[in-house]
Order: sequence, then structure tokens, then C-alpha cells
Amino acid sequence: MRKINFIRLLCTVFCIIAIIIIKIVNLISKTLCINIIVHSKLLLIVFVAILALIFCDILLSHRIYKGIRYFWYHFTIKNSLELQMIDAGFYIERNCYIDIPKIQLSFNNNFSAAELKIRDSLKFDKKLDDVVLSSALGKFVVERHYITDDGNYYIYELIDGSVSFKLVFNSFKEFLNYNKGIDTYKLFLDSRTAVKLQHCLLVGQTGSGKTYELYNVLLQMMNKQVKYELYFADPKGSSLAIIGSTINENRTAVSVEEIIDLLEQFVSLMRERKGELKELLKTQIDGDYSTFGLSPYVFICDEYASFASVLQSMEKKSRDKVKSLLYEIILQGRQLGFFLFLIMQKSDAALIDTALRDNMPLKIVLGNSEQQTYITTFGNGVDIPNRHYSVGEGVFTEPTIAPEPKLLQCPYCKFDILKAF
Ligand SMILES: Nc1ncnc2c1ncn2[C@@H]1O[C@H](COP(=O)(O)OP(=O)(O)O)[C@@H](O)[C@H]1O
Ligand SMILES: [Mg+2]
Repeated sequence: MRKINFIRLLCTVFCIIAIIIIKIVNLISKTLCINIIVHSKLLLIVFVAILALIFCDILLSHRIYKGIRYFWYHFTIKNSLELQMIDAGFYIERNCYIDIPKIQLSFNNNFSAAELKIRDSLKFDKKLDDVVLSSALGKFVVERHYITDDGNYYIYELIDGSVSFKLVFNSFKEFLNYNKGIDTYKLFLDSRTAVKLQHCLLVGQTGSGKTYELYNVLLQMMNKQVKYELYFADPKGSSLAIIGSTINENRTAVSVEEIIDLLEQFVSLMRERKGELKELLKTQIDGDYSTFGLSPYVFICDEYASFASVLQSMEKKSRDKVKSLLYEIILQGRQLGFFLFLIMQKSDAALIDTALRDNMPLKIVLGNSEQQTYITTFGNGVDIPNRHYSVGEGVFTEPTIAPEPKLLQCPYCKFDILKAF
């Protein structure tokens, strides 16, 4: 038993026994008409007060002052967690009681998210890093965890597994209205996340919703206050090629040669932008393209792996040319406003250069992917929220808002997407 519970139990049992004895003694003294205990009433009050204090201590330790609902969640989840931690061996035996790491739990206003802090120790450091806590947390699941800067606590960010962040747009008008509320140089991913426009790698098995999410992003880009200049590469010649041709045929490529030409066109515009921005930076040195209200240019390549594999069969000169073009965009595009959006099923080093992949700040993996896909996309040792991902659901990382994989639920557009384009 834990020390605090042991003390509470000991005090409670002691007080109850004392009260019973006082009552019995009182009864005997009354029937025998003798005055054995003069202060029995006072003692009774003291023991009842101790019992009341223990009760108040329990209420306060579970934050009753924040409301009955808060108390109930805190009480049930903390108790369940403590019990399961003991079952899983997270305790240290000390004489007649056991010690478990200190736990702190706090919920947000509508109980859709919570933060769990567990005191780290030499004995449990590795275990606390690896443990899957979700089964002990009722309706909550662990979204990500990290250790505090001072190394004293593990923080687990919890979310209500049943809460949905998925946006559903019944009409294109609804979509446009929502998009109006988002910054010109930002894109929304779901109801709680909007990210800065930046290089993006979108990974997921066939049917996981990659192209659908791309449509959604494209519709946002095409309806911003600043014009987004879009370039489309679709080596499989499927739906993106159709949409690209309806938007701008000259900026849509299907064959590998066409895609290379389009990339060259894109990079030459980027080089022009360099001169333009250099002049503008004289007025504000720490700015970028967005500071001066310039148009972003986005090069989108669906099924990038198809392009990469055809490219591999080509002569070295072509391969090197494409590689240097891609690197130029990745390394210089951020400030100039030129971005790459690569969509692929897997992100192995055989299909995409590791350095290229690592320099893409926004990474998304949709659907239930193999562990290897998560590792190649996000790197080793990342924690993927343990759940079933349906179509359009997955995880993403982004340096500022999601350094570790965070849940993502892509919007559902109930209107005719092709018509909207
Ligand atoms: N966010 C979403 N919400 C609802 N349905 C979706 C969503 N994303 C994808 N779908 C459905 O799944 C189908 C397959 O998605 P698609 O984008 O073509 O997959 P992928 O490109 O990964 O192979 C789409 O035609 C659509 O009906
Ligand atoms: Mg697709």
C-alpha cells in the first residue's frame, strides 16, 4: 500500500475504533450511573474532526474546488493509473508500504485534453520512456511524451480519444468561409492545427487519403488573398494531372522529361526572386517573401517515388541535375517563398534522399503505416500515438507546433471537389 493511503487508513481505523470505545464507555457509564470519562464529548469531537479532515484531504487532493466533474475524472483516472502502475512494477517497497512515482494530472476546460506529469527516477527512467499508458487513462490516449528540461518529470500529453478534430465541409461556401479565417501564408490541417506554408512530405499507403488531402490544400492555396503560383507533377498521370491541366496546362507535367523541364522553370523563377528579394531586404533585413506580401510558388509532385524510380534508370547527368534542383529549392526556397510538396507511399532512402527528406519541415504520415515508414519519415525513437488510423487520419511533425508526431484528422469535403477547382 502507498504511504499516503497507509497513513490515511491508519488514522481512519484509529479514529473509528476510538469513537466506538468512547460510545461504549459512555453507554456503560450511563447505565451504571457513574461518571467514568468526563471529557468523552470533547474526545468524540476531536476524532470526528480528524475523520472529516481525512475526507477533506481526499477531496482536495483530487481538486474538488475545480468542480465535481473535475474531481471525478481526477479521482478515477489517478486511481486507475496508480493501480496499474503498481501492477506493472512501478513501485519501490519501503518497510510496510510502497512508494510509486509522484503523479500530477490536470485537465483542460472541456476535458478534451489533459497533461500527466510523472516524477522520473533512476530506477524508472527507461521504463517511463517506453511505457504505453493509454489503457490506464480511461477515455484519454497519450498523444506525445517528453522529459522536462530539468529531467525531473516525464510529461504525457493526453487527448480524449473520442474527440474529433476533423472538419466536415458540407458546401464549398463553408470551406471558403473557414479558409478566410486562416492566415494568408498558413494552411489548416484540421480544426486545431494551421501550419505555416513550408516544404511538405506527405506519406501513406494507397488509399490512405494523400491525394484527397492534397486537393484540400490546393483549394486553400487557390483561395487565398495572395495568388499562389502552383506547379503540378503527376508521373502516373492520374487525378492531379487532370486538376493541374484545368488550372494551368503549362504548369502541369506527366512524363519524367516534362517534370524535369518544369522543375528547371520553377528554379529559374526562384533565382529571379532572389534578386527581387535582395532589394526588398534592404528595407527590412530579417524579412522573407511573406513580409513583403509576395506570391508563394509551390511545386507539387504526387507519387514522387514513380518519378524517382524512372529517374534512377536515366543517365547520371540527369539524376545529378534533378538532385541539385531539388536541393536548391529545399535549401533556399523557404525565405524566397518557393516550396516543394512531395507525396509518396514510402519514404525509404532508396526513393528519396535522406538529406532532402530531413530538410522538409512539415512531414505527414496518413493511415496505418508500417513502423519502418514512421522511422524513415520522422526518424528513430519517435512515439506514434497508438490507435487505429482511418482514411484521412494520421500524424504529422512540424518544428514549431509538433516537434514530435501529433494526431491529424484531414477535412472531409462533401461537395464536388473537381467542380470547386
Ligand atoms: N479526409 C478524408 N475524409 C473522408 N474521406 C477521405 C478522406 N481522405 C480520403 N478519403 C477517401 O478515400 C479515398 C482514397 O483517398 P486518396 O486520396 O485517393 O488516397 P491515396 O492518394 O493515399 O491513395 C478518397 O477517394 C476519398 O473517398
Ligand atoms: Mg493518390
